[in-house]
Amino acid sequence: MTLFGNIFGVFLCLLFGFSSGFSSETDSHQTLSLNGKWRLSNSNNSLSLPAEVPGCVHSALQQQGYIQDPYIRFNDVSYQWIALDNWTYTTTFTVSTQLRAKQKVLLVFDGVDTVASISLNGIIVGNTDNMFRRYDFPVRDLLKEGDNVLKVSLMSPVFYASERRKAHSAYRVPPECPPDVQKGECHVNFIRKEQSSFSWDWGPSFPTMGLWKGVQLEAFNVLQLIQVSSVPLYNVSVSQWRVQIELLVEAVQTTNGEVTLSVPELVSERTFQTQFLPGKTKNTFTLHINTSSEVKLWWPNGHGEQPFYRLTVTGSQDRFSILNTESKVYFRTVELVQEPVVGSPGLSFYFRINGKPVFLKGSNWIPAHSFQDQVTPAILRNLLQSAVDANMNALRVWGGGVYEQDLFYSICDEMGIMVWQDFMFACAMYPTEEDFIQTVREEVIQQVRRLKSHPSIIIWSGNNENEAALATDWFNIPISQKPTYVKDYVTLYVNNIRAIVQEEDQSRPFLVSSPTNGAESEQEGWVAANPYDPHYGDTHFYSYILDCWDWRTFPRTRFASEYGFQSWPSLSTLQPVSIREDWSYSSNFTSHRQHHADGNQQMLQQAALHFHLPNSTDPLKRFTDTLYLTQVMQAQCVKTQTEFYRRSQSEIIEGKGHTMGALYWQLNDIWQAPSWASIEFGGKWKMLHHFAESFFAAVLPVGFEDDDTLLIYAVSDLSHDLKLRAAVSFYSWSDLDPVCTLKSELLLVPGGSAVPVFKMPVAALLAGCGPCTRLTCLLTFHLEDSSGQQGPTNHHFLCSPKDAQGLQRPNITAKVQEDKTGYAVTLHSSSVAPFVWLDVGNIPGRFSSNGFLMVSRNRTVIFNAWRPTSVAELSRSLTVTSLRDVY
Ligand SMILES: *[C@@H]1O[C@H](CO)[C@@H](O)[C@H](O)[C@H]1NC(C)=O
Ligand SMILES: *[C@@H]1O[C@H](CO)[C@@H](O)[C@H](O)[C@H]1NC(C)=O
Ligand SMILES: *[C@@H]1O[C@H](CO)[C@@H](O)[C@H](O)[C@H]1NC(C)=O
Ligand SMILES: *[C@@H]1O[C@H](CO)[C@@H](O)[C@H](O)[C@H]1NC(C)=O
Ligand SMILES: *[C@@H]1O[C@H](CO)[C@@H](O)[C@H](O)[C@H]1NC(C)=O
Ligand SMILES: *[C@@H]1O[C@H](CO)[C@@H](O)[C@H](O)[C@H]1NC(C)=O
Ligand SMILES: *[C@@H]1O[C@H](CO)[C@@H](O)[C@H](O)[C@H]1NC(C)=O
Repeated sequence: MTLFGNIFGVFLCLLFGFSSGFSSETDSHQTLSLNGKWRLSNSNNSLSLPAEVPGCVHSALQQQGYIQDPYIRFNDVSYQWIALDNWTYTTTFTVSTQLRAKQKVLLVFDGVDTVASISLNGIIVGNTDNMFRRYDFPVRDLLKEGDNVLKVSLMSPVFYASERRKAHSAYRVPPECPPDVQKGECHVNFIRKEQSSFSWDWGPSFPTMGLWKGVQLEAFNVLQLIQVSSVPLYNVSVSQWRVQIELLVEAVQTTNGEVTLSVPELVSERTFQTQFLPGKTKNTFTLHINTSSEVKLWWPNGHGEQPFYRLTVTGSQDRFSILNTESKVYFRTVELVQEPVVGSPGLSFYFRINGKPVFLKGSNWIPAHSFQDQVTPAILRNLLQSAVDANMNALRVWGGGVYEQDLFYSICDEMGIMVWQDFMFACAMYPTEEDFIQTVREEVIQQVRRLKSHPSIIIWSGNNENEAALATDWFNIPISQKPTYVKDYVTLYVNNIRAIVQEEDQSRPFLVSSPTNGAESEQEGWVAANPYDPHYGDTHFYSYILDCWDWRTFPRTRFASEYGFQSWPSLSTLQPVSIREDWSYSSNFTSHRQHHADGNQQMLQQAALHFHLPNSTDPLKRFTDTLYLTQVMQAQCVKTQTEFYRRSQSEIIEGKGHTMGALYWQLNDIWQAPSWASIEFGGKWKMLHHFAESFFAAVLPVGFEDDDTLLIYAVSDLSHDLKLRAAVSFYSWSDLDPVCTLKSELLLVPGGSAVPVFKMPVAALLAGCGPCTRLTCLLTFHLEDSSGQQGPTNHHFLCSPKDAQGLQRPNITAKVQEDKTGYAVTLHSSSVAPFVWLDVGNIPGRFSSNGFLMVSRNRTVIFNAWRPTSVAELSRSLTVTSLRDVY
């Protein structure tokens, strides 16, 4: 739901008994926020401190100076004790007599992390065990005049998880513990909490505790509106839209009244006589849109605009207003198409938005911080804007994190980012005890109702990799016991989660897992023999050892929802959490931050396939050069793989193809560490993110070799057809002037397709270009039509750069100037320079282009600073590195 302003700003006014017609503030619904400063203490009272709500124990300890920034050096291990202790949040508040006089007073927690016992004035009002749920407790009769004392006693989540594990003695529910390299806590699958908070292969173990969302009292005499949702549904057979509007209401007693709905720009108001039953009820209304209305549709980024309509809901009882809200409605349809493919066994797997097949380009989203209270609107906006600026149209909100805050989805709605929304289960088996299932059911109902009005969400998915974990036996489950686990799997994801989603939301598809074979997995009893089968559904694919420049190593899948390579963030990102002695690739710190077994070695091994490894005798330069080279490796690997997926969209080769999605792992980072992310913690773009801006461009030339033949494909996401040709230029590694250029014939490239536009044996190409050999030349290419270049310029290396003959240190000079567009950096190079990287240290901001191949003497890029800076500061901070500078 997207309300104008804040959900708590929903104006609810209620009157009864009077007939004067005057609305009286004193008799209306009242909200008393209990956010702000509380007190926090540990179990033996050795620590007692002020704590902000919303917030968490770690943030409070840091804010009050009891601990350092938990991200510094080895603090994740040093501060393990925090999550092993129990903590109590306490606040004291007074309430007005008018509030206490209301018929009903609810104590509402929008999010408790996680296991807590809650008491008011010494009386226990309830318990919590799920951070993904809202809780409310009736407290009217416990409130008193003067001070009221509210206590939330949180149990160590690590202790709780281990107790639940002990209680589940019949069989184990793996994985018991994370691998040692993650330095994490065990049994996270036994607690309904952010699964990565007990550590992940890219993140630290900070099992948080706290009140991570707001707390308030809601007092009313007749009813309270908890939530409004609106879901447009399209009836194809009659070409008609209708909007299904649900009001989640808590009524004190049976209340008869009128509800009036309107989308002023499309349909005039309609009034319904209604009866709100006592307690919490869902009240559904349907508004039919006249077929003659021209409904403007919401489109993904790159395919059109994101228009919305205003929906107003008012309710009255005996002429008095009982509810009044305004929200946004966006119209769009989504279908997940799984049907036979000509020339290929299996089924297609792609999304149709408003009837149009759309290739999903993007990445995977993880929590933006270990401490959710520190994720600000500015952080969300910056990351999502970065996704859009890199030409992405989709993100997968991965199942080991959190259901993101409302603002996240509102921004995605506005920007046209399609969201693949997982439910929060990842890389594990899960228990199915009655109370576990019950709390999950409530979680799923609440989350679907909260989020279903967002057009950005195009699919719900039950879990991350749990079908694959079961099918391919990650956890060494004896064959004889497998049916038990399959039964638990079906119970949780199919019989409960899927059933609820299908009941609550008919406006988007549901998939049980990712990766999955989709309809084929269902045929096979929900757990396919091979969920990675490229003929069905989506796949996740990782290989760190195989040569990533060789596209033959990648599965030609229908949909790539995860793939990627690690890299290190830049020194400026590591600096605030490390000291000088840490700045070496072999330091304790460097291996401590790496949570993926052998990750640091794998990066060097992959890089060494094509590059000389840094060997400066200056240890610091060698370290920063190594960070740089891991980013070069990652950018080039993910580029190769993504280009392979994009060019595979229109073909079936050896029965495989029609790839319609490329979501690399992962967009963002949770802390300053090596990971698969393309954006560093803090928002700095890695080289990969700059590459993504090109490899996700709407029109893209892709070059590759097949059997010593060079092919160039034109990939187009446009709606209209183009006539394009490839223009290819050869450069000698030792010279900035092109050796020769050639152009192909103009060919038709239909909108939404990938078409080969150039094909020539490499030997013939070289023979036709005088002095060139594979070792002495490289080539660049672009697409053009009669009006000029379309899409970015791309490049293809005919040998590994480590074997390139004639590549010299380019001696790049840079000059910073301020002009009306911002700070312009003009580079001058004396020779060909691959992977030119500009860095201004800790001055936050973004270069208009970075990591590029420089085959011209001069090039100007713009630096967009996120805080005031100056030519002098930028010039002082600027470093320029290219491939030849590291050895
Ligand atoms: C109280 O608990 C803290 C944190 O668990 C512990 O370090 C400290 O030793 C305890 N103090 C006493 C007096 O038991
Ligand atoms: C935390 O609370 C649980 C349950 O009351 C108790 O068993 C455990 O000993 C407590 N832990 C600490 C460190 O006090
Ligand atoms: C679509 O409209 C037709 C004609 O009014 C109706 O029979 C059918 O049930 C509608 N379909 C849905 C899914 O509502
Ligand atoms: C390396 O870090 C660990 C903490 O992860 C620490 O226990 C160990 O003493 C450190 N070793 C050195 C040589 O600093
Ligand atoms: C770069 O500078 C070095 C040292 O001054 C010099 O040896 C080298 O020839 C220069 N490279 C080019 C391409 O001019
Ligand atoms: C490139 O820059 C240099 C100095 O920075 C300048 O002398 C030269 O004219 C420029 N060349 C072009 C083609 O712009
Ligand atoms: C670094 O490696 C390059 C390429 O192998 C080599 O030419 C150079 O001599 C090495 N430099 C040092 C300082 O070892």
